[in-house]
Amino acid sequence: MSRDDSRSEEESAGTRDLLDGHAGSGHAVVVSIDETAQFWDEQARTFDDEADHGLRSPAARHAWRDMLRSVLPNPPADVVDLGCGTGSLAVLLAEEGYRVTGIDLSAKMLERATAKARAAGTATSFRQGDVSDPQLQRASMDVVVVRHVTWALTDPDDAVRKWAGLLRPGGRLVLVEGLWSTGTGMTARRLEGIVRPIISNCETRPLTDEALWGRPIDDERYVLVARG
Ligand SMILES: C[S@@+](CC[C@H](N)C(=O)[O-])C[C@H]1O[C@@H](n2cnc3c(N)ncnc32)[C@H](O)[C@@H]1O
Repeated sequence: MSRDDSRSEEESAGTRDLLDGHAGSGHAVVVSIDETAQFWDEQARTFDDEADHGLRSPAARHAWRDMLRSVLPNPPADVVDLGCGTGSLAVLLAEEGYRVTGIDLSAKMLERATAKARAAGTATSFRQGDVSDPQLQRASMDVVVVRHVTWALTDPDDAVRKWAGLLRPGGRLVLVEGLWSTGTGMTARRLEGIVRPIISNCETRPLTDEALWGRPIDDERYVLVARG
């Protein structure tokens, strides 16, 4: 794997420069919220260069749209995208007719997300916040979407518990994660072990379609869907 190929996974995993020698352990190093925000502010300018981040190609957009539509209820529905980054998924879902809120720590990521929503003409709303405790009203969402964020949180069990509390009855928690070839990330088995005690109705589907990633992949990538 080339340096460029590995960059997406390491940075998606959250913390290339913050891993501090722990790459390969599959565990994130505990860092402060300010350090995390600063790290992601620095990634914002080039973040969308990766196919699955920017969704610039029609093939990638269609692949993510189809995958998400297959696990979400029909629009309109209230969706929050936690750790929304540059807003690619949030805007994609808003274009599909969902009412979408995006929350992220990084002001630079949110600037890009806001510009993307404006360019797309969607009414997506974005705000700065810590997804470990999103400060949203309980039972106010039909869907909580989180892509490439959960594994790197300090206390994913507590975060998932809070996210589950945001769901209306019958709502869905949709977590996209992976254990990337770099050794960072989280296995589906481990994430299921976190989610199942909180929402027992949960299933995982592998995401192997190369259209999602802009290239063939040989590591573990998946979506976990839990239905409250
Ligand atoms: C790998 S990026 C994923 C962005 C987006 N979910 C996507 O898939 O395109 C991780 C994002 O999570 C955000 N993030 C990390 N920890 C966070 C936290 N505790 N609270 C809010 N956002 C966080 C970062 O600022 C960054 O935008």
